[in-house]
Amino acid sequence: MTLPLLALVLLLLCRNGDVTVSAEDPYRFFDWRVSYGVVSPLGVPQLAILINGMFPGPDLYSVTNDNLIINVHNDLPESFLLSWNGVQQRKNSFQDGVYGTTCPIPPGKNFTYVLQVKDQIGSFYYYPSLAFHKAAGGFGGIRILSRPLIPVPFDEPADDFTVLTGDWYKTNHTKLKGILDGGHKLYFPDGVLINGRGPGGGASFTVQQGKTYRFRISNVGLQNTLNFRIQGHNMKLVEVEGTHTVQVTYTSIDVHVGQSYSVLVTADQPPRDYYVAASTRFNPKVLTGTAVLHYTNSAGSAVGPVPPAPDSDFDWSLSQARSVRTNLTASGPRPNPQGSYHYGQINVTRSIRLASSAAVVNGKQRYGVNGISFVPADTPLKLADYFNISGVFRVDSIPDQPTGGPLRLDSSVMGADYRTFVEVVIDNREKIIQSWHLDGYAFWVVGMGGGRWTPASRAQYNLVDAISRSTTQVYPNSWTAIYIALDNVGMWNMRTENWARQYLGQQFYLRVYTPVKSVRDEYPIPRNALLCGRATGRSAQ
Ligand SMILES: *[C@@H]1O[C@H](CO)[C@@H](O)[C@H](O)[C@H]1NC(C)=O
Ligand SMILES: *[C@@H]1O[C@H](CO)[C@@H](O)[C@H](O)[C@H]1NC(C)=O
Ligand SMILES: *[C@@H]1O[C@H](CO)[C@@H](O)[C@H](O)[C@H]1NC(C)=O
Ligand SMILES: *[C@@H]1O[C@H](CO)[C@@H](O)[C@H](O)[C@H]1NC(C)=O
Ligand SMILES: *[C@@H]1O[C@H](CO)[C@@H](O)[C@H](O)[C@H]1NC(C)=O
Repeated sequence: MTLPLLALVLLLLCRNGDVTVSAEDPYRFFDWRVSYGVVSPLGVPQLAILINGMFPGPDLYSVTNDNLIINVHNDLPESFLLSWNGVQQRKNSFQDGVYGTTCPIPPGKNFTYVLQVKDQIGSFYYYPSLAFHKAAGGFGGIRILSRPLIPVPFDEPADDFTVLTGDWYKTNHTKLKGILDGGHKLYFPDGVLINGRGPGGGASFTVQQGKTYRFRISNVGLQNTLNFRIQGHNMKLVEVEGTHTVQVTYTSIDVHVGQSYSVLVTADQPPRDYYVAASTRFNPKVLTGTAVLHYTNSAGSAVGPVPPAPDSDFDWSLSQARSVRTNLTASGPRPNPQGSYHYGQINVTRSIRLASSAAVVNGKQRYGVNGISFVPADTPLKLADYFNISGVFRVDSIPDQPTGGPLRLDSSVMGADYRTFVEVVIDNREKIIQSWHLDGYAFWVVGMGGGRWTPASRAQYNLVDAISRSTTQVYPNSWTAIYIALDNVGMWNMRTENWARQYLGQQFYLRVYTPVKSVRDEYPIPRNALLCGRATGRSAQ
């Protein structure tokens, strides 16, 4: 590294607040160029977003508490941002990389993200957050390994694979965005990709007979739940979005859009190749993506049929969801067991209820939550908040209970007090499965049930070993309840992971606020922050 760059990095780190922690924890550098390239995963050439020429992009490797210095050079002819799905970025929502927190990187320019993966482990992914870029790729795996000497509740696997799977359109992202901008719904996707390859496209995982491997599976697609399985092999679940789980063995796993799961697979079958399959769920039309599990001493190629997903019913999926629990005696990012924080004994100080809806507003299809369909403001909300620029957003421009009224457009921000402990019930009154994500946090998924939630539903909450994660599914005509300890000050995006719905307004920001300004609670604006909209010309010094 050249000296000026080192100086810049140290400056960024020091400006980033907790100097003692940052200076002691290692830092890792990534230099990424984002460009267009042509790929043909479904046999038709189309425009994809590449990172350092790769589709999907490279993995972001890290160890708990590392400082990640990621210089992103935007070689696209349009603005671009990356965001970090599930990485909490404590005290640092400026680095979240969604338009509500961070100015877009203009074409031909670069921006250096400085994140610390403080007190985290696990499997996540990054993705492009602006426009409809996610439909073009630009995503990649994130893994945060445990620090040496912190016990991991399973033996070191022989290898560790990233599996990025998702539904995919043959059409380039600009055309899909045009359909949405025109006020129309998106049609059903054309296929399912595994690591950027279509069925028979050559994605493969090489294993040695008798050894055990970790697969970190993320659904980076746009709307469909995927059932993931490996022909003839069991999968032992070990980690979900940063939490070590009770180790349950499955023959297939439903991975809802935006979610990440880690499983262990032992190569314990006769040596040949086997199908790895991911197929869409809960729709009469089924799309299946395949890859290959290849034994080094393989006697031949995979022989069909590709194993099917379980029958497409929600009960199977719901009962699997209930079996995904925290292993209370396993370590997390710290050596103490994960169960030492007794979330079930903390008093809820606020109860929020969210209900999604779809409606035509001003002749165009929109989606919303609690009566508001989100529209981006002319300035990132976090910057408007920081610089006291009035008229960009109003706190509590979204109610914390469903209204039942018609959908209205707004740059919706819900206010919340730092250090409160809230219950959020997500009501799904629609016929489709939903998936919700909150940036900056992991939350406990305390309950899921059919029909309408009532206060009596609390009796069935799991207050002992619910899974702690950042993305939860909500089954059709059902509810999901989560508990969140609001211990991370900032402006945090809460959104559906159904990407067309997100793009057309089914999201809002949660402003976790403390009146006392201190770098112990929130880092100052990064010195290299890009400034745009009404923040243009302000000073981040
Ligand atoms: C852009 O990259 C250069 C090094 O290539 C770096 O000095 C500069 O700080 C980066 N700009 C931002 C805004 O991070
Ligand atoms: C939970 O973690 C502990 C500690 O690593 C481990 O010994 C135990 O087998 C795990 N239990 C289950 C059910 O996964
Ligand atoms: C995407 O596809 C459309 C229609 O096929 C085409 O008009 C457009 O130029 C393409 N966009 C880019 C950026 O190549
Ligand atoms: C929770 O509330 C109950 C009843 O108001 C109270 O007795 C208890 O001390 C509270 N617990 C905590 C941990 O604050
Ligand atoms: C914004 O207003 C608050 C409270 O009035 C003040 O403490 C803070 O310094 C202001 N921030 C800026 C960047 O002017």
